[in-house]
Amino acid sequence: MNLRGTPLTLVSAVLVALLSAQIVVRYPRCIDWLVDVGLAGHFSPSTVKEIVAPAADHDLELLESDEQLARRRDRRHRKDTNRTNICEDIPPGFPPPDTNNTSTLCVDRRGCCNFTSVQAAVDAVNNVTASQKRTIIWINKGVYFEKVRIPATKPNITFQGQGMDTTAIIWNDTANSSGGTFLSASVIVFGSNFIAKNISFMNVAPIPKPGDVGAQAVAIRVGADQAAFWGCGFFGAQDTLHDDRGRHYFRDCFIQGSIDFVFGNGKSLYESCQLNSIAAPVPAGQRFIDGSVTAHGRAVPEDNTGFAFVNCTVGGTGRIWLGRAWRPYARVVFAFSFMSDIIAPEGWNDFNDPARDQLIFFGEYMCGGPGSNTTARPPYVQRLNATQAAPFLNTSYVDGDQWLLPFA
Ligand SMILES: *[C@@H]1O[C@H](CO)[C@@H](O)[C@H](O)[C@H]1NC(C)=O
Ligand SMILES: *[C@@H]1O[C@H](CO)[C@@H](O)[C@H](O)[C@H]1NC(C)=O
Ligand SMILES: *[C@@H]1O[C@H](CO)[C@@H](O)[C@H](O)[C@H]1NC(C)=O
Ligand SMILES: *[C@@H]1O[C@H](CO)[C@@H](O)[C@H](O)[C@H]1NC(C)=O
Ligand SMILES: *[C@@H]1O[C@H](CO)[C@@H](O)[C@H](O)[C@H]1NC(C)=O
Ligand SMILES: *[C@@H]1O[C@H](CO)[C@@H](O)[C@H](O)[C@H]1NC(C)=O
Ligand SMILES: *[C@@H]1O[C@H](CO)[C@@H](O)[C@H](O)[C@H]1NC(C)=O
Ligand SMILES: *[C@@H]1O[C@H](CO)[C@@H](O)[C@H](O)[C@H]1NC(C)=O
Ligand SMILES: *[C@@H]1O[C@H](CO)[C@@H](O)[C@H](O)[C@H]1NC(C)=O
Ligand SMILES: *[C@@H]1O[C@H](CO)[C@@H](O)[C@H](O)[C@H]1NC(C)=O
Ligand SMILES: *[C@@H]1O[C@H](CO)[C@@H](O)[C@H](O)[C@H]1NC(C)=O
Ligand SMILES: *[C@@H]1O[C@H](CO)[C@@H](O)[C@H](O)[C@H]1NC(C)=O
Repeated sequence: MNLRGTPLTLVSAVLVALLSAQIVVRYPRCIDWLVDVGLAGHFSPSTVKEIVAPAADHDLELLESDEQLARRRDRRHRKDTNRTNICEDIPPGFPPPDTNNTSTLCVDRRGCCNFTSVQAAVDAVNNVTASQKRTIIWINKGVYFEKVRIPATKPNITFQGQGMDTTAIIWNDTANSSGGTFLSASVIVFGSNFIAKNISFMNVAPIPKPGDVGAQAVAIRVGADQAAFWGCGFFGAQDTLHDDRGRHYFRDCFIQGSIDFVFGNGKSLYESCQLNSIAAPVPAGQRFIDGSVTAHGRAVPEDNTGFAFVNCTVGGTGRIWLGRAWRPYARVVFAFSFMSDIIAPEGWNDFNDPARDQLIFFGEYMCGGPGSNTTARPPYVQRLNATQAAPFLNTSYVDGDQWLLPFA
């Protein structure tokens, strides 16, 4: 099994702690400490430095004048010194000129190309152009501390990162600080045909303690039709991934949270993704539940929505459900997926409203692992047969042939 999730979780847990305490920024030395405490076993020191260093860099930059920034940019073209040619990771001649089909914008934290923030690049997308061709926003590695919003007038945008462990957009709003869960997202996508590749979306607000109110903290809200995510990371605790509305495709993604960490009323296929719970470990012998992977929001039978997980893994900590029925007609299917023993034997929850039992569609098909034993599932959970499972198993579930572009 792919264990990539383990080190990422570790790093992000440490990062979350450091970032919320602002230690990274004030004491760049702790980067070395980070390396010393032996993320070593999992990650090469240079990778950790890559994740953390741009943050420190950024805050130094805020103190620089425009002139200093310009000089920094110029260094990219100077071949005569080895010392601080910090821009050399941007390919020569990049970004390429516009073609009839694509326009490319470049974002680099340190000022090495068109924009230093992702939002500045989004703002620069012309809404007329956006309705005619794809705009690729190429985002260099680094941590981008900003809240990003793609308006509905700007469809056809791609975020191209350099790896989910080296490129991240991070903010820390909560339901309280932003006026509601739906507004707390670090990244909000209202433009249709959005694509993201090899980038992470994080919300680093404090992890809620039991009983906390208003601490929901969304990493991304996908509130538009026809969005695709390839090799992306989603990091948060309560309500990490707001799969709000529309048809979406997620492939090879890493999704971390504690409760309801994939929620909303989207119609989505999650293929080969890792779902990682950071709910608090439950002591042996105790039987309480402290998390849920999904909270689907299908409210009426006419909603043609639901989450399908295929070839995914569910693991991490806590004692959690696969889903709870946030809205009465919640629809969620797990197929060909591995479930660790953090899944409680009952597996699912009707939101403690038995009236929903006749309306819910919770299905399982050909899953494995200790959490997949369906013996103790409530009667409303369906053990699907091949015919019933078939509509959920591939990209036809999200009408992929109408819009989903191949990865390359
Ligand atoms: C500069 O880089 C070149 C090749 O990358 C290397 O051969 C040379 O020794 C470096 N010079 C210094 C002063 O580090
Ligand atoms: C781009 O579009 C223009 C106008 O529609 C057309 O004349 C030109 O041949 C196109 N270029 C390419 C490379 O397709
Ligand atoms: C550009 O788009 C046109 C029409 O959508 C398509 O026929 C053509 O193959 C595309 N060109 C490239 C280079 O992708
Ligand atoms: C981005 O930078 C490239 C290379 O310097 C330049 O050709 C292009 O016009 C810039 N684009 C924008 C939108 O500023
Ligand atoms: C996105 O761009 C394509 C051309 O690449 C265009 O056909 C389509 O209408 C655009 N989508 C929207 C919603 O404007
Ligand atoms: C494009 O944006 C302008 C404002 O910047 C707005 O007035 C216009 O309606 C928008 N056009 C489209 C097609 O969304
Ligand atoms: C987000 O982080 C900033 C800087 O540390 C802090 O001032 C702010 O209170 C945080 N917001 C929330 C909602 O935690
Ligand atoms: C994304 O990252 C993977 C692994 O890090 C790499 O193999 C792939 O080429 C990258 N692709 C894109 C489009 O970013
Ligand atoms: C959110 O706001 C409410 C009302 O002001 C308050 O009771 C609660 O403690 C706040 N939650 C957090 C996590 O700060
Ligand atoms: C299933 O997921 C694993 C990694 O999570 C991947 O290596 C494998 O190729 C996937 N299988 C299929 C059939 O997509
Ligand atoms: C499934 O769980 C039941 C008890 O709930 C147990 O009797 C049975 O052996 C388990 N099956 C497997 C395959 O582990
Ligand atoms: C699958 O289940 C449905 C509903 O219970 C049933 O009608 C159908 O005959 C079953 N199909 C197979 C192949 O078992």
